[in-house]
Amino acid sequence: SAQLHELALAAGLDFFGAAIGEGNTHDSQYMAIASDTSEIGQLTPENGQKWDATEPNRGQFNFQQGDIVAGIAAQNGQLLRCHTLTWYSQLPGWVSNSGFSYEELQSVIETHIENVVGHYKGQCYHWDVVNEVIDDNGDWRDSVFYTTMGTDFLAVSFNAAKAADPDAKLYINDYNLEYNEAKTDRTVEAVEIILDSGAPLDGVGFQGHLIVGSTPSRSDLVTVLERFTQYGLEVAYTELDIRHESLPPNDAALAQQGDDFANVVGSCLDVPNCRGVTIWGFTDKYSWIPGVFPGEGAALLYDENLQKKPAWTSISSILATA
Ligand code: G3I
Repeated sequence: SAQLHELALAAGLDFFGAAIGEGNTHDSQYMAIASDTSEIGQLTPENGQKWDATEPNRGQFNFQQGDIVAGIAAQNGQLLRCHTLTWYSQLPGWVSNSGFSYEELQSVIETHIENVVGHYKGQCYHWDVVNEVIDDNGDWRDSVFYTTMGTDFLAVSFNAAKAADPDAKLYINDYNLEYNEAKTDRTVEAVEIILDSGAPLDGVGFQGHLIVGSTPSRSDLVTVLERFTQYGLEVAYTELDIRHESLPPNDAALAQQGDDFANVVGSCLDVPNCRGVTIWGFTDKYSWIPGVFPGEGAALLYDENLQKKPAWTSISSILATA
């Protein structure tokens, strides 16, 4: 039967893809799926391109981790979503704790982006330029970037990324935008600030870290995606996983998970400027969730034995009927 990326292309999307953990690449069964380009047409490095990996000390750049997944994508001919540049987390202490002035921090951001985006120039279909700049209450996130520069760090970041790789599509990326609440409102404000500044912005990434049974309906998701596409921007689901809050899931819970995934993918099909879907990992064998939400998980399309789950079939059906 047809696989997900080929179905996504036939449905008019640019990709169906997955994040790949740099530490999992020794697993040959895992890598066989990750490298099946009819199934997974796009890769995101789960951790290797983040600031703590790429510039652990000021001016000392290291692309060893970031090159792992970039190299796999290049070898397989898969699109690469590059992730991420200006983010408060996985940010080394020399950035967050140095008491930089506005001008120094601007220069630190520009130097980081010039080097990292420059290293991957020509390889990144998308860059998540800024990540998680709004907090869960809908306030500006209290990061070193915001407290030092106000919202100016946004334009600084996007302008630096554009200068270093004019061909990459530049995204702002966040989670919980799907619920169309205060966090989404503030993200719309962020988008307007970036656009009003004249800085380049191509898209808004909906991370899509969702919960089985609490995922919004397909039409509610369309409504929130369109809050951004009305600016002429594209959108994508960039880190999709839908976790069970109690484990192990029974058959009804697995079916519900499939319906939830179908709502998300279906909403992307309903919005012409929704360009693709990336799942955050693809197998329950490896996921960030149990470490952060103990007792929860099983959020992906393949089980721990790398067998397809009902959610896989739900996504393939919704893509096939598009
Ligand atoms: O690399 C070290 C390793 O040397 C050490 O032995 C090990 C011991 O804990 O830790 C390893 O680092 C971990 C890293 O993942 C690689 O496995 C970090 O502790 C751990 O915090 C880190 O978690 C990542 C998390 O981002 C950090 O914020 C997850 O893998 C990754 O899936 C997650 O991804 C984020 C997106 O980037 C942004 N959106 C939310 C999403 C989920 O949290």
